Amino acid sequence: MKILGIETSCDETAAAVVEDGKRICSNVILSQAETHGKFGGVVPEIASRMHAEGIYDVTAKALSDAKVTLSEIDAVAVTFAPGLVGALLVGVSFAKSLAFTARKPLIPVHHIAGHIAANYLSSGIAPPYLALVVSGGHTNLVRVKDYTEFEVIGRTVDDAAGEAFDKAARVLSFPYPGGVYIDEAAKSGNPKAYRLPKPQVEGFNFSFSGLKTAVVNASHTASMKGEKVCAEDLAASFQSKVCEILTEKTELAAKEFSYTKVSLCGGVAANSGIRSALRKMCGENGFELYIPPVSLCGDNAAMIAAQGYYEFLSGNTADEYLNAVATLPLTKKAR
Ligand code: KG4
Ligand code: ZN
Repeated sequence: MKILGIETSCDETAAAVVEDGKRICSNVILSQAETHGKFGGVVPEIASRMHAEGIYDVTAKALSDAKVTLSEIDAVAVTFAPGLVGALLVGVSFAKSLAFTARKPLIPVHHIAGHIAANYLSSGIAPPYLALVVSGGHTNLVRVKDYTEFEVIGRTVDDAAGEAFDKAARVLSFPYPGGVYIDEAAKSGNPKAYRLPKPQVEGFNFSFSGLKTAVVNASHTASMKGEKVCAEDLAASFQSKVCEILTEKTELAAKEFSYTKVSLCGGVAANSGIRSALRKMCGENGFELYIPPVSLCGDNAAMIAAQGYYEFLSGNTADEYLNAVATLPLTKKAR
């Protein structure tokens, strides 16, 4: 079964064709990051306009790269929630027109479920397992009971991990989105150079705002003294704290629910420090760890098509009234 996936929830216009939820036939991503970078963050109005400009060509390329026509596609899967509502609407409207003119089923996909499904494209992991989702907008610990059955047991009580990375990067004058620059700088820094706080949050929840503020304060204090922080050291100190927070909560949850399989996903899963910290923790506990290649961590449509396959098998299709939703729990279906 070949599914065309479409993703426009934030600042990537993406389309992909995936066979049976597993084999990537094509995967096209048009990033708007450079444009939003000039403003220091995503400008929703610009994002929607750029999706509208790019969606046709991106989809046409996904079909031609996969060497299929629209009539040879079996279904169209689209991210309908959560995200920037104007951005989502472009993808949802486009997917609806394609599905109904070509008389194909339309499959609504939750963006977080899509990130979780990225691991199906690169490994043989199958539920049940524990997923740690770390992205620009979300930080969740999820019990993946089945391909379309989730329980969120931990979430951030303030900022998402990616937000904290981007804010720390901004303080250090790195371009937006800055997570990858922190990752690079941290490689040559001393993680013990700055004493940064570790939040105390109940259960499996996370908090990153105190840590983010501590990075801002370290930089301001230095500049008030006429000094400059060492970017590499501050990046390394910040990143190692994030690694500690994520690893400790994941270990706690995996033990509590007796999981032997753990998966990491989302844009921040590209981080080399987080990847190796989780690898170490899982190795010590005998957990199997699954992480997608960096190319499938950030927003893409292959993961949406992959999840779309399982949504379709579970009977989750939408009609012409499908709408975009800005905020929606992972456990909620479309309407
Ligand atoms: O999943 P994603 O592409 O978009 C959302 O769904 O939010 O995640 C984007 C986030 C940004 O905050 C970006 O800075 C972060 O992922 N990111 C990284 C790295 N690469 C991307 N954060 C830390 N280290 C990286 N190497
Ligand atoms: Zn995402």
